[in-house]
Amino acid sequence: MPKQMIQAIRVHQYGGPEQLKLEQIPCPEPQVGEVLIRVHAAGVLPAEWKFRQGFFQAFRPAIFPSIPGSAVAGVIEEIGPGVTSFQIGQAVFGRSTHGTYAEYTTTEVEPPALQPETFSLLALKPEELSFDEAATISGGATIAWTALFEDGALQAGQRVLIQGAAGGVGSFAVQFARWKGAQVIGTTSKANMDFVHALGAETVIDYTSTPFEQVVHDVDLVLDTIGGETQMRSMQVVKPGGRLVTLLEQPAQDVAQERGIHAKQNATIPTSGLLRTIAQLIGEGHVKPTLARTFSLQEASLAHELSQSGHGRGRIVLHIAD
Ligand SMILES: NC(=O)c1ccc[n+]([C@@H]2O[C@H](COP(=O)([O-])OP(=O)(O)OC[C@H]3O[C@@H](n4cnc5c(N)ncnc54)[C@H](OP(=O)(O)O)[C@@H]3O)[C@@H](O)[C@H]2O)c1
Repeated sequence: MPKQMIQAIRVHQYGGPEQLKLEQIPCPEPQVGEVLIRVHAAGVLPAEWKFRQGFFQAFRPAIFPSIPGSAVAGVIEEIGPGVTSFQIGQAVFGRSTHGTYAEYTTTEVEPPALQPETFSLLALKPEELSFDEAATISGGATIAWTALFEDGALQAGQRVLIQGAAGGVGSFAVQFARWKGAQVIGTTSKANMDFVHALGAETVIDYTSTPFEQVVHDVDLVLDTIGGETQMRSMQVVKPGGRLVTLLEQPAQDVAQERGIHAKQNATIPTSGLLRTIAQLIGEGHVKPTLARTFSLQEASLAHELSQSGHGRGRIVLHIAD
């Protein structure tokens, strides 16, 4: 039975990590088509500190108080009216829509609202994956997959440059691209070079000492998880007719046209089927999640400070229950 009152992190106004307040709130109740999940682990995505700082307020204003978090792994504790696809007691992972920095969260599973920002995704958690590892998949592996294979149309035998190859998205992207049979080049700082090699990148460039455009040319695809001048310089290394897919700001179309390349933001929304595909690849040993660091729910502000630093390997996770 879920508790009547639960612990959750809530934000009441835009600001720094100190705005993440640990509070007692009533346990949410699953509505029609929703499930209640006892959260064991929540992924900490960079989007969450950006949202907290107010970076998205022009186009996605917050409704305060707001519980951060979307990537989740936990156990279904209750099902709402009309839910037939999940059962109480099942261990699940995916993307929840009502905030995951909490002991319990609700999310819609039937019918899933496949709309940007509000879509939910849930699949059964494979036994070989811990809750903490499973919380790294939504917003990391799912985005790496759609950006590479849907938006980027990456094929076996092609060459791909992954900017930010050690990060929560990049570390999965390297492994997926290698699994596909592509030749992988990754950029990272010196501290993470061995890690990115071990993930499967054939060439690893230390961005702190080597401008990548001096050593990389004519790739079929750049996956840009960094943005800014890294994105702009990345245009130079794509072969004519090739692609650049970015998770950050819209690329300059005049520059892309001049160079004869396709450059766009990632746009494909992941599906629950993709969660199952990724779970299978992990189960078969082709892909491995990486936990950057785990924090308790009480330590959410420390987790945000680390995420905001923009450095590290793999995904930061809040470990909320054993
Ligand atoms: N639009 C979308 O759908 C979407 C989805 C997911 C993520 N995103 C965005 O994509 C970005 C990456 O997300 P993430 O979850 O992978 O972030 P993350 O886990 O914080 O990883 C960031 C990585 O970037 C590396 N890095 C920093 N500066 C670099 C540089 N100049 N060149 C190469 N690597 C560099 C860091 O490696 P070192 O420690 O070695 O420096 C770190 O591993 C974030 O801005 C996030 O908001 C967008």
